[in-house]
Amino acid sequence: MKIHDQYRERVNSCLDSFLGSIPSSPNSDIELRDVMKYSVLAGGKRFRPILTYTVASLYDSEIEKADSCASAIELIHIYSLIHDDLPAMDNDDIRHNQLSNHKVFGEAQAILAGDGLQALAFSLISNDPLINADTKIKLLELMAKSSYAMAEGQSIDLSVVSKKVDLNILNKMHQKKTGALLNCSIKFGALLHNASENDLSILESFASHLGLAYQIQDDVLDVTTSDEVLGKRQNSDAVKNKPSYPSIIGLNESIKTFENLYQNAQEELSHLSVDCGPLSLLTTRLMNRSY
Ligand code: IPE
Ligand code: IPE
Ligand code: MG
Ligand code: MG
Ligand code: MG
Repeated sequence: MKIHDQYRERVNSCLDSFLGSIPSSPNSDIELRDVMKYSVLAGGKRFRPILTYTVASLYDSEIEKADSCASAIELIHIYSLIHDDLPAMDNDDIRHNQLSNHKVFGEAQAILAGDGLQALAFSLISNDPLINADTKIKLLELMAKSSYAMAEGQSIDLSVVSKKVDLNILNKMHQKKTGALLNCSIKFGALLHNASENDLSILESFASHLGLAYQIQDDVLDVTTSDEVLGKRQNSDAVKNKPSYPSIIGLNESIKTFENLYQNAQEELSHLSVDCGPLSLLTTRLMNRSY
């Protein structure tokens, strides 16, 4: 099995056992634990945890140390998707090839599942016995800042619906709503192993190119790819009148833009103090993703 697939299996099993450890509340017909499980265990590419494991592996082979960070960032990501699909936001009924969370459990439970997942993400890292207290504070602070930036980016996303905006505003929005969690997942791997300030700043710049590329690519895939392949609705952005790279500069230019950004991200990596091979390979895989 390829290393990235091993990381996916690993985070899947960590998430499964973490959610399994939440006690059930036997007197209610809907349990928040099950509402969260429905979305967390539905799948997804798990690129954020894979990034955390991959960056951590550049510095140290002790993979267990990255488990709580890899799981936590995925919990935050899934929370963001549950809320993103709500009628008040993108109003999408399909996610990961199944009904969106609110379509099964109702809006109130879906909101609470997001709230719960965010809190649990913080508790997962706080309780990890493998990470020392000083490092934990850095990780938790980064995750808090990044989750806030994601929420702020989502707020901008909703405020520009049906508006004409320029690419600068779009870039800022993408960096926040999508770039921030990717940046967090990447820097987690380095902070866990006390990487140098120089490496952290290279990774910051790498993540900034990668984060923007990832969302432009998501907007391109939204136009070009079927519901079945995406696991979510095609044309969701156009239906909601969301400004996007494809709607402003067209499909071909958008593809060129995100490919260039991935290339820029790649170039940064060679300056790291460690062998960047595995991260470079993953970056190529992200650039070539088809959903
Ligand atoms: C979807 O992200 C939302 C964005 C921030 C672009 P992913 O494509 O990484 O989500 P998964 O793989 O379905 O979980
Ligand atoms: C989502 O952007 C960003 C976050 C969830 C933070 P989109 O709204 O484009 O994501 P999809 O296309 O629904 O996955
Ligand atoms: Mg959205
Ligand atoms: Mg959406
Ligand atoms: Mg999208």
